[in-house]
Amino acid sequence: MPNGVTGTLDRNQLICICEDVTAGELIDAIRQYGCIETVKRCTRACVTCFGCEMEVEELFEQYGPEESPDAAGLAAVPAGVGGSTRF
Ligand code: FES
Repeated sequence: MPNGVTGTLDRNQLICICEDVTAGELIDAIRQYGCIETVKRCTRACVTCFGCEMEVEELFEQYGPEESPDAAGLAAVPAGVGGSTRF
């Protein structure tokens, strides 16, 4: 990874300065939830200035599931379901 989270990862490395979230906390949340939006909501990373967004996304790519449950869920929803209620 070109920026921030490289080589041997220090779990205590502060990733989100605004919300005081470490790499270890993010990795644990990534492994627990497997959904980047849930990780952001639960850890509060990327909710203030978005300065940590690239590092959070890099951690998710490295430690997250092969395929995002979000993407799988969206793919499984048939067209027209959950859309407009207008007829
Ligand atoms: S550094 Fe994470 S929201 Fe600002």
